[in-house]
This record gives sequence, C-alpha cells and structure tokens, in this order.
Amino acid sequence: MNHDLTRRQLLEAGASIATSAALASRVAAQPQIVVPAAPVPNAIPTAVIGTGGRGTQDLRSVLELGKVVALCDTKADRLSAAATLAARDTPTTVSDWRRVIDRKDVEAVVIATPPHLHAEMAVAALQSGKHVYCEKPVAITPASVQAVVKAVKASGKVFVTGQQLRSYKRLQAAVGKIRSGAIGDVLMVKAQRHSESDLSHTGSSADWFFDVEKSGGYLIEMSVHNLDLCNWAVGATPLKAAGFGGILLYKDDPPGRSIMDGYTLSYDYPGGVKLYFTQMVFHPKGLPGGGQFVHVYGQKGACDLMGDTNVYPLDGKTPPTMLADKVDEHPSAHMQAFYDCIRGTGKNPADITVGATGALTAIMGHQAITTGKVVEWKSIAGDLS
Ligand SMILES: NC(=O)c1ccc[n+]([C@@H]2O[C@H](COP(=O)([O-])OP(=O)(O)OC[C@H]3O[C@@H](n4cnc5c(N)ncnc54)[C@H](O)[C@@H]3O)[C@@H](O)[C@H]2O)c1
Repeated sequence: MNHDLTRRQLLEAGASIATSAALASRVAAQPQIVVPAAPVPNAIPTAVIGTGGRGTQDLRSVLELGKVVALCDTKADRLSAAATLAARDTPTTVSDWRRVIDRKDVEAVVIATPPHLHAEMAVAALQSGKHVYCEKPVAITPASVQAVVKAVKASGKVFVTGQQLRSYKRLQAAVGKIRSGAIGDVLMVKAQRHSESDLSHTGSSADWFFDVEKSGGYLIEMSVHNLDLCNWAVGATPLKAAGFGGILLYKDDPPGRSIMDGYTLSYDYPGGVKLYFTQMVFHPKGLPGGGQFVHVYGQKGACDLMGDTNVYPLDGKTPPTMLADKVDEHPSAHMQAFYDCIRGTGKNPADITVGATGALTAIMGHQAITTGKVVEWKSIAGDLS
C-alpha cells in the first residue's frame, strides 16, 4: 500500500469516525475482508468501473459477496492490478465503460470513478437495466443530481450511494435514539472535518481531485459523508446555507488548483435548527480541536456521533450515558445491503434520496461560499419525490 492510498484512506476512514484516537481504534477493530475461494452461491454478476483506490476496496467487497464479470479503467496499470486481485472470477477488462454497460450478462455495476463522471455512467447503467452502487457524491451539480434521481425513479432498479456511514450499526442505533428524543429536540449541530495536510499532490487521485470541475472540492467530494450525518441526525435537509472560504494556504499548489482548502459554513434547518461546519487541511498535529466530529445539541444534552456517542446531560450532574454500543462494523456491510436489496431481502440504507440530499447539501454550501450569497434549498433541489 502506498503512502497516498494510506493518506486517502485515513481521510476517508475519518468519515467513518472522528478524532485520530477514535479513528485508530475503530479501524483496528474492523474485520478484514476475506475473499472466499469461490463466489457465493447465486452470486450476482457485477462489473466495477474505476479500479483506483476506492474501486479496489469495493472490488474486494464484490469478491466477498458477489462475482466480478467485468472490470473497467482507463489506466492500464490499475486495470491490470484489479484483474490480478479478481483472478478467481476471470473478469474481462476494458477501458471503455460503455462496453460494460452494454453487456447483457452484467446485472450490477459499481461506479468508483471521479465524481464528475458518476451521473453520466449511473444514468446509462440504469437505462440499460443494471442495478447501481455509485460512490459518493452522486454528482457535483444540481442538474446532474436531478438526472440521476430521474433515472433511478424511471428504472425501478436498486441504487445505493457509497455513503457507507448509513450502514454503520452504531450510528443507526445512535441516530435512531436521537430521533426518538434521547437528547430532546435537536437545537443545533456543530461539525468539522479538519486534517493536518492537503491530499497528496502526487497520489492516486491527484489528477482530478484538485480540479473543482471534476471533484467538486473537499466539501462535495469528502464532506458529503459528514453533512449527510448531520442531516440524518436533524432528520431534515437544510433550508438555506451561507458561508465563507477559499484557497487560504495552498495557493496554486498544486499548479492550477481550483478547490478550496478552508471554509466555514452555516446551515439553517426547518424549526430553526442550526448547523455550523468547518473544514480545513492545515490543522497542525497536536493542536487541540482537530479531526472530525458531529456534535448534536438537544434540549437535554449533547452527543458526538463521530466520537464516543455518549450523551452528555445538560444538567451538569448526571454522568454521561452511552447512546449506542460500540460494535465491529464489517467493511462490506454497505455492499451487502446493495446485494440484499437486489435480492429483495433488505432495506436500502443509502438510496437515491440519501445520495441526492447529501450531495445537494454539499453543493448548496459550495455555492454559498463561491457566490457570497445565501443559497436556498428550493433553488437547487428540484423535485426529489
Ligand atoms: N465511500 C468512501 O468512503 C470513499 C472513499 C474514497 C473514495 N470514494 C469515492 O470513490 C471515487 C473514486 O475515488 P478514488 O479515491 O478511488 O480515486 P482514484 O483516482 O484512486 O480512482 C479513480 C479511478 O477511476 C479511473 N477512471 C477515470 N476516468 C475513467 C473513465 N472514464 N472510465 C473508467 N475509469 C476511469 C481512474 O483511472 C482511477 O483508477 C470518488 O467518487 C470518491 O469520492 C469514496
């Protein structure tokens, strides 16, 4: 594993939990994906488009739970590495994703390409009758999010967004209890995603990540996880957003960079609930207050959904109580949910509504910063019904 992948995995795994200490313990507690010697019985024939860092992780889950019949990537070295990993299933390898979509024997498609390609690929796959597991963000513009929503509704096929926090049992339990009143009515959320450094300028994703037209930037590409968790905890999508930010440290670094490296955002939800969110990539190691958290404040107390999930009572006397027990989260749980939905035996944890609202929340924040105006949900969301 190279340094870049490790860095990316840490940043992304951070979305799956919090401060570095908590992060380390969570990751260590996760079981590894064990690829069986043969596909499971009645395995669903699956293709993976985009076999980079995340696509390779998704491929391992597909090998554990399904059968890989086709692999696609424009980079020959990544395609070849994926083919080696998937040798058990002897998948065909192609560089043109349309040749995967056109195949009649492919029932499910995993899309793990850069974000600006998701919508076109997902729409084409759905229109060809495939079930789709699409990495987050669903898309990076309101129009492309809408296009995917429309295609999912018209297709009747299963669509799962790669917002895997939705499959975390501990979060499901904790959010469920918050929604049932464990901390009283939610009043405010304070969340952040701070890291010590920029994504590697020479790493696996460097050829697209720093171009805002391809990734959407940190907010849309990464913090869609964090913002979706905030929406989930509040039980709503925001009505409006305002914010400030820019390229504060890494100016023209890497050359041509168009994504921001620091910003503050405020969101206003129905019922007057507020969210304050900050992100930066220059929070020095050792300075308190780093990492990630989602603090949910209610009438009776508060809880960090990305930390210990304890409820800290507002009375200042009662000791904190555990909202949801720590459990081992299987790294393939989200892919398992995808296959369960295809078989009609499970509930979709991150359907198109979750994917679209997560992406649109991030896009709304991005637009608020870049236009310097308050952006309203109704101006970007369109019809999600
Ligand atoms: N769910 C998560 O926690 C998580 C974690 C990391 C990344 N991701 C998402 O996964 C996606 C990929 O991220 P990554 O880190 O793996 O990036 P990456 O750069 O490592 O991989 C992307 C791959 O897509 C390939 N590709 C580009 N254009 C293509 C095309 N037209 N046809 C076929 N393949 C093409 C690239 O060659 C590359 O191998 C992004 O949307 C990212 O946000 C999700």
